[in-house]
Amino acid sequence: MTDHDLVDDPLAQLRTWLDDARAATEQPLAMTLATATPDGTPSARVVLLRGLDEHGLTFFTNRTSRKGYELRLNPRAAVAMHWWELGRQVRVEGVVEEVSMDESTAYWETRPRGSQIAAWASAQSQLLVDRAELDARVADVEKRFAGGEVPLPPFWGGYRIVPESVELWIHRDNRLHDRFRYAREGTGWRGERLAP
Ligand SMILES: Cc1cc2nc3c(=O)[nH]c(=O)nc-3n(C[C@H](O)[C@H](O)[C@H](O)COP(=O)(O)O)c2cc1C
Repeated sequence: MTDHDLVDDPLAQLRTWLDDARAATEQPLAMTLATATPDGTPSARVVLLRGLDEHGLTFFTNRTSRKGYELRLNPRAAVAMHWWELGRQVRVEGVVEEVSMDESTAYWETRPRGSQIAAWASAQSQLLVDRAELDARVADVEKRFAGGEVPLPPFWGGYRIVPESVELWIHRDNRLHDRFRYAREGTGWRGERLAP
């Protein structure tokens, strides 16, 4: 199969691209995630893609962060990933659902203890007076869980972006890139080529 034609399943193609990116790049999983308030004010930040299957793309974060707040009020998102070394970009847009506590726990348990402590200690996106305040919170959390497992915080977990559209972009010479946009159609996908 060549990159320069429409495919049947863009998520399967994205899985192949991620394998290529793992082999070719330092950080294959970084994706820019855009969310918006209900009145349409957008915000974007980078998160790591932690899961991809036929249901969608999963990432993990603090549910009381700015993105968590925006997703609660407006559960839609767009993401873009780019691998310079491969000349490929993917864009995904869709609705967002919270992943189950079991799935969040399974991922949580793979995280290093330091990251688990940090998740408890950081009220992500809230104001801090200074760095010392954060350090003190870390020390408190370390004391609280000393010698024991660090459990999944109730305010932390995964989100799944369930794609409604996917665009696969491939660099070509003279800015005459290939762009293929896919929209859900029944149980499959309808693809069309866009001008670069
Ligand atoms: C390479 C990279 C990976 C990141 N991965 C995550 C992530 O997986 N989850 C997360 O909550 N924040 C991650 N961050 C931090 C976010 O970019 C962001 O600062 C944080 O989530 C707060 O965003 P918010 O205030 O818009 O909610 C990452 C940052 C970078 C640069």
